[in-house]
Amino acid sequence: MQLKITVVAGDGIGPEVTREAVSILRAVAELNGHQFTYTDMPIGGVAIRQHGSPLPAATLDASLASDAVLLGAVGGNEFNSLPPSQRPEAGLLQLRQALGGFANLRPSIAYPALAGNSPLRPEVTEGANILFVRELLSGLYFGSPRSWNKDTGVALNTMYYTREEVLRVARVAFEQARKRRKKVTSVDKANVLEVSQLWRAAVTEVAAEYPDVTLEHQYVDACAMHLMNTPRNFDVVLAENLFGDILTDEAAVITGSLGMLPSATVGGKVNLYEPVHGSAPDIAGTGKANPLGAILTAAMLLRHSAGLEQDALAVESAVNNVLSQGHRTTDIARSGQPGQQSGQHIVSTQEMGKLVFAALHEIFNRKQALHAV
Ligand SMILES: NC(=O)c1ccc[n+]([C@@H]2O[C@H](COP(=O)([O-])OP(=O)(O)OC[C@H]3O[C@@H](n4cnc5c(N)ncnc54)[C@H](O)[C@@H]3O)[C@@H](O)[C@H]2O)c1
Repeated sequence: MQLKITVVAGDGIGPEVTREAVSILRAVAELNGHQFTYTDMPIGGVAIRQHGSPLPAATLDASLASDAVLLGAVGGNEFNSLPPSQRPEAGLLQLRQALGGFANLRPSIAYPALAGNSPLRPEVTEGANILFVRELLSGLYFGSPRSWNKDTGVALNTMYYTREEVLRVARVAFEQARKRRKKVTSVDKANVLEVSQLWRAAVTEVAAEYPDVTLEHQYVDACAMHLMNTPRNFDVVLAENLFGDILTDEAAVITGSLGMLPSATVGGKVNLYEPVHGSAPDIAGTGKANPLGAILTAAMLLRHSAGLEQDALAVESAVNNVLSQGHRTTDIARSGQPGQQSGQHIVSTQEMGKLVFAALHEIFNRKQALHAV
């Protein structure tokens, strides 16, 4: 398998966590004979400093010419006084737009070893493994007209969807469900909104193409409650842009830490892979950043751009194993228990990366030994 990956590590902890993610990709490639090539390009604050633009043309060109883009994070305090269009974040928004992905995939997984980190009780989160598919390019965030008339005191936004926009994102959700537990929960507010009625009709239309996948519809308010009460009942959750934005953040509490969350944006010219967290300037350079979100993002890249499901699963198992052994970056350590207390071993960004690397080697060695028998 050959894959051209553009790496845009960005600012703050971006380069620190991306380094560990790339080292895991290198390990997978080496162990299984894949040929992955990496092109490092600047984005965000580092690109402003070097080239005067948060998304230099060369970065955009390299991204568009690759098979996948792996991003760290952008943003830094020194740029906070600039107008939004000149800030590091503008580079990421421009990149997302140029790559054109319309489906944002965000897993929400309860890792048994981190059960104590979620504000939800372990018996509630146990077994939860949800994949959110959020429509990303339409809906309330992009609909027009939009306005705020300060004289009249009236503001207006438009929730807008075409049938085609819903069909294409629904197909992504059903395709994913087919590879998982074969259930799609489509979220809407069809009891109130015409846009949701169109959404529901279009999703139902797509469901007919996937008779092996069960479709259920939930109103967004009910879904918000069920996600917290019975998260393990969900498999793939399909939502329009605004509802998806809110529900994915709500469901992040199932995992318990921002540093653990990966994401992928697919469906456009080139898929974009990025951990959910930002550049965390408060801990940049301290070795405290959790690289597992970035490493799990690399696993998504293996799954969704390379079609290497077994390798993606191996990376995810390696992460699980390292957590089960008690290794923790500070964000996922139980508070008040520094050092080696309570079976936890606090490690740095780099050490965590090395532990996952070693666990991955172990998994592949075991597989090879099994094949040899
Ligand atoms: N996709 C992106 O690049 C992205 C996303 C969100 C925010 N940002 C930018 O990042 C900067 C900081 O934003 P913020 O503080 O609101 O959000 P943030 O995600 O950077 O940090 C929020 C909190 O979570 C912690 N945290 C985040 N990731 C972590 C990790 N991997 N390991 C351990 N702890 C982690 C941070 O230390 C901080 O306390 C801003 O400039 C913002 O615009 C970028």
